Amino acid sequence: MNSYRHWRIERDGDGLHWLYFDKAGESTNTFSTEAMTELRSIVSKLAVATGDQRPRGLVVLSAKDGGFIAGADVREFMTLTSPEEAVTLVKRGWDTFNEFAALPFPTLALIRGFCMGGGLELALACTYRIAVDEPGTRLALPEVMLGIVPGWGGMKRLPKTIGAPAALDMMLTGRTVDARRAKKLGLVDEAVPTRVMMNAARITLSNRPAPHQLGFVQGLTLWGPARKFIANQARKQTEKKARRVHYPAPYAILDIWLEQDGNPFSFPAEHPSSLRSLLASPTTRNLIRVFGLQERLKAQGKESTFAARHVHVIGAGTMGGDIAAWCALRGLKVTLQDQSADKLAPAMGRAAKLFKERLKDPRRLRDASDLLIPDIAGDGARHADVIIEAVFENLKVKEDIFAALEAKARPDAILATNTSSIPIEQIASTMRDPARLVGLHFFNPVPKMMLVEIVAGANSRPDLLAACATFVRQIDKLPLPVKSAPGFLVNRILAPYLMEAMRCVDEGIAPEIVDEAALAFGMPMGPLELADTVGLDICVAVGKMLAGSDAPEAATPVRLQQLIAAGKLGCKSGAGFYTYPGGKISKPRADPARVPAGLADRLIAPMLAAAQRALAEGIVADADLVDAGAIFGTGFAFYTGGPMHYLASRTA
Ligand code: NAI
Repeated sequence: MNSYRHWRIERDGDGLHWLYFDKAGESTNTFSTEAMTELRSIVSKLAVATGDQRPRGLVVLSAKDGGFIAGADVREFMTLTSPEEAVTLVKRGWDTFNEFAALPFPTLALIRGFCMGGGLELALACTYRIAVDEPGTRLALPEVMLGIVPGWGGMKRLPKTIGAPAALDMMLTGRTVDARRAKKLGLVDEAVPTRVMMNAARITLSNRPAPHQLGFVQGLTLWGPARKFIANQARKQTEKKARRVHYPAPYAILDIWLEQDGNPFSFPAEHPSSLRSLLASPTTRNLIRVFGLQERLKAQGKESTFAARHVHVIGAGTMGGDIAAWCALRGLKVTLQDQSADKLAPAMGRAAKLFKERLKDPRRLRDASDLLIPDIAGDGARHADVIIEAVFENLKVKEDIFAALEAKARPDAILATNTSSIPIEQIASTMRDPARLVGLHFFNPVPKMMLVEIVAGANSRPDLLAACATFVRQIDKLPLPVKSAPGFLVNRILAPYLMEAMRCVDEGIAPEIVDEAALAFGMPMGPLELADTVGLDICVAVGKMLAGSDAPEAATPVRLQQLIAAGKLGCKSGAGFYTYPGGKISKPRADPARVPAGLADRLIAPMLAAAQRALAEGIVADADLVDAGAIFGTGFAFYTGGPMHYLASRTA
């Protein structure tokens, strides 16, 4: 039984079998074809085992420190050349997990760390599930983000385990839940502390309590009119976020659940929600490409062994305050410096709100609050591993700060500026060692935007740039190395697009119609709503900064000038292209029929051109990094695979 490469099985004195997943040569367990085939062979043998060989119960667990099971091996998925091959791969998992679910003895998934996609589908095929209550334990079915569906039984078993509304929410958003939430939902039978996990599994399999059943009310969500009603509600929610032409997967999940009870093989191949249609769609390929781009950005952080414990942030405004709060949320000690207590107060208030939103557990909430320390005197700068400056966009102020910091900071600390427009070399010009300064360019709003540009000045030290990438990963953001040039990558490709949208308004097209054109193309937010969100004053500043380098977009649109003159700076001032009563956008409904033909192409064209120029000038190393920056920094329509990929596929 122990001749497998990826699995190990141990039998204890009580007749329980412990099946360890230990993917050969990797730190994370994923289901490659080989790992799945081995599991199937184990299941077939156990199903017919007799006497001593027949388990009294089976525990599935991970032998890795890094989580339970991360899901299917997406890298293998990327190598598939036809939809048929992909359907075969899905069928293999579906059959294996069905055979697993039919084993003639009780089974239990012992979940510690992440349990994603196929990992959760295997857990759902078990009689019992126990999750270890640690911050790293996360359960999710994120297939929809890759343009695919939970086809290894997730669509069949999850609604029956936690009821339709919660199951559809998890499957349609890819949302993760922690151990406690999983227990509340009924997704796991127990959430236990780490030290008792093995015993908890043993006791459950010895006592064999009745397996979890849906409560009466939740049970009703699976039947008759309630089932249809819930699917309709979920469809309406989905339509608000993703259109079927661009993102077929969530619609397929709904159809497969509603009409086929979660069996992805029941629709005929030509049906739009069949597995074959889905796996043949360019969206699926492109979303898997986007996953690959994200992995590439994550890998940038692996080059250095740098590990920050203490971050010092100077300037507690919009950016500095939120950067500080984010770092504390990620478990780092943070000192936050500004000129006075009243300048610090709004940032501390916003931080408290962020912690409350993100950390439901009062203990973790208190820990994060304790980590964020107001520091008017700036003493933290002496001890910090990373110092981030985010004061006004003013060269003289920044120069003075870094000249002083150089004397004060530890010699091995990272010195970084969050400047959007001042060349790193200029800020560093008064430093004794200008090679120490790097740019760490965060985006607004910090908690939402995943990308951070790591800006290399002409002299910035490569080891510090590598350490920056590691730091950015440490705080769970995506590092993108860029050259110090006006607008870096993201603003440079975003600004011409926003300006073009504003020019359309100058020509008399209603803002909501302009935005509708972009939404119909697949942008997550229209350009004018985005401009309002960024702040119209900032749009003008970025436009001016780029005027020299990207001459075609130089003139400031008239409507933009008028709004600024009237003090309407966008969302933050209550009005801009739209109004924001009570902080919420008030936007007239746009009739898609009123969108002029070709408007989306007109809006996108300057962005595509700017992306090409940025690549030609070497702002980032290659076309894939342009796409990664556009997708994670501007939200460029994910289903296209990025602007450069979109250009290439249009000409292909
Ligand atoms: P802000 O005006 O909201 O905040 C600046 C803060 O710095 C203020 O609280 C001010 O009191 C403080 N400050 C000024 N001089 C100081 C000093 N000598 N010591 C300590 N604190 C000092 O500015 P915002 O928008 O946060 O921008 C900060 C930096 O981030 C700028 O370099 C900007 O270009 C950059 N940035 C801004 C983005 C945005 O969307 N707002 C996006 C990305 C970068």
